[in-house]
Amino acid sequence: MPGLIKGKSILVTGGAGFIGSNLVKLLLKENEVTVLDNFSAVDDRFLKPLQGGKQLKIIRGDITKAGTFSNLQGFDIIFHLAANSDVKFGSNNPMIDVVTNDTGTVNVLEFMRKTDSKEIAFSSSSTVYGEAEIIPTPESYGPYRPISSYGASKAAGEAYIFAYSHYYGLRGSIFRFANVVGTNSTHGVIFDFIHKLKKDPGNLEILGDGTQQKSYIHVSDCTESMCYVHSLNRKTDVYNLGNTSMTRVLFIADRICQKMGLKDVKYNLVPSEGGRGWPGDVKMAQLSIEKLELLGWKNRYSSDKAVELSIDETLKMLQ
Ligand SMILES: NC(=O)c1ccc[n+]([C@@H]2O[C@H](COP(=O)([O-])OP(=O)(O)OC[C@H]3O[C@@H](n4cnc5c(N)ncnc54)[C@H](O)[C@@H]3O)[C@@H](O)[C@H]2O)c1
Repeated sequence: MPGLIKGKSILVTGGAGFIGSNLVKLLLKENEVTVLDNFSAVDDRFLKPLQGGKQLKIIRGDITKAGTFSNLQGFDIIFHLAANSDVKFGSNNPMIDVVTNDTGTVNVLEFMRKTDSKEIAFSSSSTVYGEAEIIPTPESYGPYRPISSYGASKAAGEAYIFAYSHYYGLRGSIFRFANVVGTNSTHGVIFDFIHKLKKDPGNLEILGDGTQQKSYIHVSDCTESMCYVHSLNRKTDVYNLGNTSMTRVLFIADRICQKMGLKDVKYNLVPSEGGRGWPGDVKMAQLSIEKLELLGWKNRYSSDKAVELSIDETLKMLQ
């Protein structure tokens, strides 16, 4: 989606990661981009191919330390993606979400306040809703009852953005992502299944009772719609980014086995409490994207198509 955000100086926190590196690639077409990442989730493998011109600057730094920002000048826009992105971690260590996702987000907002940087786009999550009683779930749904510290930390991050917007006149685009899949992914169901099957082509451990259904969005639709919405959004507001359909976990397993040419793979279902994949897993999640579509946005890929494409991309990446 070139042209929508143009000629800006942009900071991408977490820009080395899965969604961040795809976003950086897109923004670099017409902007100067600085990546701030501590490379805890992944090294610089996705950024290396993007280096070369003067448009990309990379800073190794930890958002949980306020001092990280002390030598940085302000930016036109900050895409704040750095986070503990793994929902599973929180059940054994909720503090990882408090420190990385909340203290980290407040540090970013303090940096914005001090440098008079006015625009932020934030990667929140469908997990803020918890086990919603209305599906597809609209942005207006509440009260939030997240069932993971990850979801709680994202809800708190959103709340701080609203508070700072009121105090200091920020313009924030808050994006609640469904499950994002696609190229450069280093975690999530597709990546996990392919890894497991490469190790043991006869057996596949599936976390949960197999009935989970979730909505998936391709990373290209996710990053392009973030830029699209942020360029139109005039005041701090929340947008679901997802798809109008859902995909079953067993469909994903079947398609991966087929594409890997594996037959008679034994599925070992490992349910946690209530048939979940892990404590804090929301078994069925679908976001309403009516608000997004009312802005004129249409995803290129449905949930199933996004999954199919991502399996191909992940298999290619892991060759
Ligand atoms: N992938 C999804 O399906 C999904 C869904 C909902 C929300 N999100 C959110 O989108 C964002 C990007 O997710 P992703 O899937 O690309 O994850 P990712 O783990 O690939 O990317 C996160 C990046 O943040 C960096 N990071 C982590 N802690 C940091 C710290 N303290 N200081 C600086 N950098 C740090 C990591 O090194 C990594 O590069 C995250 O905020 C995540 O919570 C992702």
